[in-house]
Amino acid sequence: MKYSPRFLFYIVFITIATFFSMDAKSQKASLHWKKMANGVWKAEVGKPELINFLTISGVPPKTAAINNMPLATFPITENEIKVEVYDGKTYLRFPLDKNEKIFGLGLNFKTVEQRGRILKLHEDHYGGIDNGRTHAPIPFYVSSKGYGVFINSTRYIDIWVGTGVRVDSKNPPDVRDRNTDKKWSASPYSDNIEVLVPTEGVELFVFGGPTTLDAVSRFNLYQGGGCLPPKWGLGFWHRTPTLFNAEQLLNEVEGFTKHQFPLTVIGLEPGWQSKSYPCTYDWDSGRFPDPKGLIKTLKDKGIYTNLWINPYISPEAKFMNVLKPFIASHTVWSGYIPDYSMKQTNDIIGNHLTKNLLDIGVSGFKMDENDGFDFWLWPDVTKFPSKIPAEIMRQTYGMMMQKLNTNLYRAKNQRTYGLVRATNAGASSFPFVIYNDYYSHRDFITALINSSFIGTLWTPEVRSSGSAEDWLRRMQTVCFSPIAMLNAWADGTKPWTFPEVEKEVADVANLRMQLIPYLYTCFAEYAFYGRPPIRAMNLVDGFSVMSKETIAKVDSEKNPYAIASKKEIKDQYMMGDNLLIAPLFTGDTSRKVILPIGKWYDFYTGELAGESEIISVTPGLAHIPVFVRDGGIIPMAVTNTIAEGKFDLAIRYYGQKEASYNLYDDDGKTFDYEKGDFSWRTIKVKRDQKGKFQGTISEADKGKPNNIGKLTWEFKTK
Ligand code: GAL
Repeated sequence: MKYSPRFLFYIVFITIATFFSMDAKSQKASLHWKKMANGVWKAEVGKPELINFLTISGVPPKTAAINNMPLATFPITENEIKVEVYDGKTYLRFPLDKNEKIFGLGLNFKTVEQRGRILKLHEDHYGGIDNGRTHAPIPFYVSSKGYGVFINSTRYIDIWVGTGVRVDSKNPPDVRDRNTDKKWSASPYSDNIEVLVPTEGVELFVFGGPTTLDAVSRFNLYQGGGCLPPKWGLGFWHRTPTLFNAEQLLNEVEGFTKHQFPLTVIGLEPGWQSKSYPCTYDWDSGRFPDPKGLIKTLKDKGIYTNLWINPYISPEAKFMNVLKPFIASHTVWSGYIPDYSMKQTNDIIGNHLTKNLLDIGVSGFKMDENDGFDFWLWPDVTKFPSKIPAEIMRQTYGMMMQKLNTNLYRAKNQRTYGLVRATNAGASSFPFVIYNDYYSHRDFITALINSSFIGTLWTPEVRSSGSAEDWLRRMQTVCFSPIAMLNAWADGTKPWTFPEVEKEVADVANLRMQLIPYLYTCFAEYAFYGRPPIRAMNLVDGFSVMSKETIAKVDSEKNPYAIASKKEIKDQYMMGDNLLIAPLFTGDTSRKVILPIGKWYDFYTGELAGESEIISVTPGLAHIPVFVRDGGIIPMAVTNTIAEGKFDLAIRYYGQKEASYNLYDDDGKTFDYEKGDFSWRTIKVKRDQKGKFQGTISEADKGKPNNIGKLTWEFKTK
């Protein structure tokens, strides 16, 4: 029998098509949401991988704290979440409302609102574009409607945030004729978030509100709560040039005394090591003949020592012969890549660090270059002895280094605070702050804002400046961030490098020191209640989620919420509940500030700045604009020695409303607070019979920490 070529083609086509349709069989699944805690639900799609962010971090959720939060109901219409496993990948779809805003999805530097963006979440050094490649590519988003979604996969995930338009859309965009219709858009309206996870299943979490801040807090608490740094970590940090020796270091420290600048942490860069890039993790005996003595001398002056490391180990490192079985197939800068997913690796490196560095008094580390530019990092074909794929290693490497470091200090009942260039979900409780080499002041502030949506911390470190003005403006913002740090590794700048602004820089550094009791309490709220210490305006209650009553309360002409809802707020933020920070950038003499509902007062003068409105400020060079909420209580240290035990406290009060505030305290350096060794002291401000403000503070409970010495009150608003 003879078949025509056309018939044969048809048979082959059918066979191939059938083969593919079998191979790519689709499994549409219905989800079973399991309640994990009040307002936290988990569901599994297909066969999730055993390795995920939470299994790697291993930190248990703070379930009791979550259960103490307001009751939350499942925040999304369940049958509007669609999941499907197809072609070996997991397809996810979540609904979006017309006016819903989406925040989070990694540490972005240029945008706060993610609706309309397409991201591939991928660990990387930020390269100037918000495309998902960043230091903290965290697959968590939070909605202005007050809920959050976490995709617990350590793979590179693709996310289309309100860009895909489906044939079966519930709210399809209007079909418009481009020839004639001016409203035609190349990006028509989309009513969903779609996600592609390159594995045959995934674990999903939904976090309830009711507010956006509640959803973020639940996410943070679920991964173990935020970190609580030691008090000294919140002081002023200075990093010295790479090749400084012990003598130069001590001279630098003298400079701080001479210029009357505060200093609590000194950071040593790669040159403390005998070899670095790749690293030996051992002192250079020429530059540092007596490291133990040096660290003690510094400590006696109240200065803590932080050391730079990167992950890539020199063939000459003393522990290299035992580490050899636990390194990857490739090298980075000719250094071996330890497999941090393995216990042996953690034991070998951990023992070395403890014996040689922690035990002689090193207070913490800056863990550099674990984020990776593709051109120098290991490629994704690299093999690790644990058999964990390089993709997963890349997404979680920084986090694994943080975990080891945290545990080493925990074993000594000593808190640490340090820096890292890579993190991911699950790491909120690890006491590390992200930094990078990107150096755009404006974008640094946007990153500070974005860090608050995703359970991580960021510092807009100061390095250098082309002008005194830029120097001062950067110093002002870094002093209102998780780490107030000058990183002079490259060019040896000092806080007083620009004499024309020396006084103003010293003022803001001293202000930072004074603010430690307030800031420490903000961090305690992060650790105990999951509330981030630095916060986006969109996390202020009522800011994103606008109720009718909210809108009615504000001036309809100048309604800050109406404007805020149209515009991305990426240049002002909150530090805790009471302080609003509105930085200025080089060249700016004035700026607009959106004041949320209520009265707001100038931090420096105590005068009324405005009420539920947008104001314009022209602050001059000396100050960064800071505003205090009506009834804002700000506990401030009078002396710069807060990290070392008792300190005198000045309690500032702003506004007209009677108010109360809970001040946190503990020993500031150990983990004893986890066993109950802490105090929350209630500060109250009320009017007496003559209408004059009077303040009170409750005693610390018997046997609980009480570090407050002399107490004074400052009623700033006259
Ligand atoms: C960079 C890092 C800088 C500095 C430098 C030292 O990767 O971002 O802060 O530490 O390495 O070589």
